[in-house]
Amino acid sequence: MPQVLEPLTKTPQTEADFLPLNGTDHVEFYVGNAKQAAHFYRTALGMNLTAYRGPETGTRDSVSYLVEQNKIRFVLTTPLKPDHPIAAHINQHGDGVRDIALWVDDAEASWRETTKRGATSVHEPSTITDENGEVRVSSIALYGDTIHTFVERKNYRGAFLPGFRAVSHPGDQPDPLARPVGLKYVDHMVGNVGWGEMNRWVAFYRDIMGFRQYQHFDDKDISTEYSALMSKVMANSNDRVKFPINEPAEGKKRSQIEEYLDYYQGPGVQHIAMATDNIIDTVARLRSQGIEFLRVPNTYYEELEGRVGKIDEPVNELRDLGVLVDRDDDGYMLQIFTKPVEDRPTLFFEIIERKGSRSFGKGNFKALFEAIEREQGLRGNL
Ligand code: FE2
Repeated sequence: MPQVLEPLTKTPQTEADFLPLNGTDHVEFYVGNAKQAAHFYRTALGMNLTAYRGPETGTRDSVSYLVEQNKIRFVLTTPLKPDHPIAAHINQHGDGVRDIALWVDDAEASWRETTKRGATSVHEPSTITDENGEVRVSSIALYGDTIHTFVERKNYRGAFLPGFRAVSHPGDQPDPLARPVGLKYVDHMVGNVGWGEMNRWVAFYRDIMGFRQYQHFDDKDISTEYSALMSKVMANSNDRVKFPINEPAEGKKRSQIEEYLDYYQGPGVQHIAMATDNIIDTVARLRSQGIEFLRVPNTYYEELEGRVGKIDEPVNELRDLGVLVDRDDDGYMLQIFTKPVEDRPTLFFEIIERKGSRSFGKGNFKALFEAIEREQGLRGNL
């Protein structure tokens, strides 16, 4: 059955966008051992190590590695002393996303417009400089211990941010450890929040960030025998930044969102979806590089063409890899989810290829949740 999308609600034309966003700037993870994490992101996800900040560059108390693939930039940061605030973050949450940094033209105005509307300031606007110019940054609080940093980099020519040093590889060649897999950009990033808190964070994005609701489904759509959640998607005015927000819903047993909240010790980023132009090639490469994906039963593929109609990709190849397909009025999309990428069942990744569709795979949720619940059961958390 085709999925019916609600009409997109447009930002009123009379109201100028008070928070213009150019896109996602980078995502910063706080991790227990950034050196080893960087190795995983390079060899398994195929990202290039391009910049470094640490004692050798004048930062005495922490180390950060920048890894990139096309427009995707991840910063992996680890503290060097137990009394560092980052150490407390890792002790509580495990490895996870600290900062969803957004690329803006004016970090001061972004901070002023959002704090004026009720955002909690984390860092007032400041300027950081080095010989390559200056970057203006400011930060506001998001759910849990997560933050949004606004990054204004129009007067900067360096590798990433002041304080980072470009990493060169032997012979000025690309990163010899990186095995790129064709990941292009961050499509969306999903937050898990606590019971009854989804609408509060929907209101945060609407009233404080100037976003609008992109699409809506309720718990009836996405409950399985055991587990249930509710989700709303918020998007900025140019659709470059999309943040679905999940909250747990009542089910027979413990929701996957509750499992996340228990292990992350509160709200946080659940998954990061990264886009590719060729999901079959990307997923085959990721698998051969050790990334583990969730699997749905093979019966999913027997019903596939009846559900989504004709698609370009051979169904047997999708089945072999476990890639899911969903269709809406605008086209279709292919997606697959990794298992959690740390020992706590918290953050995971999605690989997505859009062929017209602008939605998030609602038609796959049931099959997918049943797959997640099998894993949850194996962990004794159902
Ligand atoms: Fe997603």
